[in-house]
Amino acid sequence: MARQIPWDTEAFGFSVAQIETLEVVDPSSASDDYRKFQDWLDAREIKIASCRLPHDRLRESMFLESKGFRFIEMVLHPKIEKLQSLDFSPDNLIAIPALENDLPALREIAEHAFSHERYHIDPRLDPRLGDARYGQWVVNTLSHPRQRLLKVMEGDRIAALFIVESKENQSVYWHLTAIAPQWQGRGYGWRVWRMMLRHHQAEGQDGVMTTISARNVAVLNLYVKLGFRFLQPEMTFHWVREGG
Ligand SMILES: CC(C)(COP(=O)(O)OP(=O)(O)OC[C@H]1O[C@@H](n2cnc3c(N)ncnc32)[C@H](O)[C@@H]1OP(=O)(O)O)[C@@H](O)C(=O)NCCC(=O)NCCS
Repeated sequence: MARQIPWDTEAFGFSVAQIETLEVVDPSSASDDYRKFQDWLDAREIKIASCRLPHDRLRESMFLESKGFRFIEMVLHPKIEKLQSLDFSPDNLIAIPALENDLPALREIAEHAFSHERYHIDPRLDPRLGDARYGQWVVNTLSHPRQRLLKVMEGDRIAALFIVESKENQSVYWHLTAIAPQWQGRGYGWRVWRMMLRHHQAEGQDGVMTTISARNVAVLNLYVKLGFRFLQPEMTFHWVREGG
């Protein structure tokens, strides 16, 4: 099953789709189904299609690769639980909801902070697509029904941005997290992440989960240092229309 992805389609200015579920039971009927999927890609003029699979679905990953999809990344899911029992020392950083007039500065951070993510790393794609995607995400969040855009302030300077969403069982999902480019590698990651955990603790939340690219060694080490555990990884694949 696949669907068109409205936010990437909007950010890129051409159609982008995602395979939602994939199971190869019988190779020949899978190839028949794939032909229908290809017709659907053509009919909608899809230029990029992606698929994320659990790490052990090698039958499916090999099938996708036989059809022109390419492996892009492994993603990891860091998770921390029992936040209420943890102790975080206070800091002068604060996280507050972003307002309309914060958008230009936050968009600028989102457009320049990321480099390890799938749209930045796929050599067939212009990395500016990745920049546009994260910038647009920040802008869209202000009107999103569930995602919240937070700015992390040190005095009157924006040090970082977080897009967060409350989930069931007093847990929070972090969608997008970034230190402003000029503040990276100076100890802010450690301080900001701890402050955010304390922030959610004060809200009464008890767990945090997120998704990172396995090649983002800096953030991987940060999560290890903070005491996060890792859930089962997933693999991401891209199909890019030739000549498109
Ligand atoms: C990744 C990121 C959060 C790290 O924050 P930072 O302020 O640059 O990192 P800090 O200086 O606070 O370092 C904190 C820890 O992160 C890890 N780390 C930071 N930079 C690292 C690097 N280049 N290589 C390996 N580990 C690194 C280390 O464990 C470090 O602690 P240590 O120095 O005691 O070992 C930040 O650089 C960032 O926002 N990057 C861009 C966006 C991004 O990747 N977001 C996160 C996932 S989508």
